[in-house]
Amino acid sequence: MPLDGLGGRALAIVNQKGGVGKTTTAVNLAAGLALEGRATLLIDLDPQANASSAFGVVAADRHIYDVLIGRHPLSQVARATEIDTLHLVPSGTDLVGIEIELANSENRERLLEAALAEAREHYEFTIIDCPPSLSILTLNALTASDSLLIPLQCEYYALEGLARLLETLERVRDRFNAELAIEGLLLTMVDSRNNLSRQVEAEVRSHFGDRVYQTRIPRNVRLSEAPSHGKPVALYDNASAGARAYAALTREILSRSVLRDPPLRPPQLESQRQAKSEATAGEASPAASQPEGADHGRYA
Ligand SMILES: Nc1ncnc2c1ncn2[C@@H]1O[C@H](COP(=O)(O)OP(=O)(O)OP(=O)(O)O)[C@@H](O)[C@H]1O
Ligand SMILES: [Mg+2]
Repeated sequence: MPLDGLGGRALAIVNQKGGVGKTTTAVNLAAGLALEGRATLLIDLDPQANASSAFGVVAADRHIYDVLIGRHPLSQVARATEIDTLHLVPSGTDLVGIEIELANSENRERLLEAALAEAREHYEFTIIDCPPSLSILTLNALTASDSLLIPLQCEYYALEGLARLLETLERVRDRFNAELAIEGLLLTMVDSRNNLSRQVEAEVRSHFGDRVYQTRIPRNVRLSEAPSHGKPVALYDNASAGARAYAALTREILSRSVLRDPPLRPPQLESQRQAKSEATAGEASPAASQPEGADHGRYA
């Protein structure tokens, strides 16, 4: 936990149901927080690696698997993005086998928590994109997080599986992380012209009250196009309804948070340090865009 109680909050984006908008939310919320000047770390914990490719990172040579098995510290796997306050820990297909590899290892639910312990101090927000399962990876995310954000696709089966997710939450609270809270439920892919969408929204709000964010994410084609351009929607089409909705969600979350003043600067990454020394040899690099004097030292 952060020493001064400020920042360092880790938020897991969880729903074992597939295709409900977890990755879209993780990517665009992380980008939104970073664009508000908050040092943010996005961790892709899904072997599908969709959050990585959403930033144009495909087949990363080092990724979250290396961190979980202790091969590399997080600071050597995190990389810079187009937004200088946002760092990304990508995922990769090696992660698929981790469930079996870890079957007999001790503390297998606490690997991410341990890996994050020091890094968390250097970011105000850590956003974790989870796979569509309640596997060991999701348990690691819940154990390492302060709270969870549950995207719910606004359709007939929106609440399906939610009971099992809440049971898992209780189990994690009992065994690994007593403080784990529900950050909020987020209605995604909302089509307010559609009757069913309106009924589902009313049902979710009557069940969960103010745990449901006021902000709703509409169905918006720009949100589904942005990843193929390797950009969060705010950098792809900031005027789109999708970008405006994620900006509103970001503000809603920030308005409920205790924030640092002035905001924390993200740590300088190993790769940026190397790029900088190469740049002094006359080579410019986009990874070296961190302002001078922003060196917070190694954190691994
Ligand atoms: N609000 C939206 N409007 C339109 N398309 C969306 C919206 N949110 C997500 N999508 C699209 O729906 C698909 C599923 O979204 P996403 O990948 O975010 O879900 P997920 O929960 O992460 O899926 P998985 O369970 O496979 O990890 C993607 O193609 C995405 O681009
Ligand atoms: Mg996903």
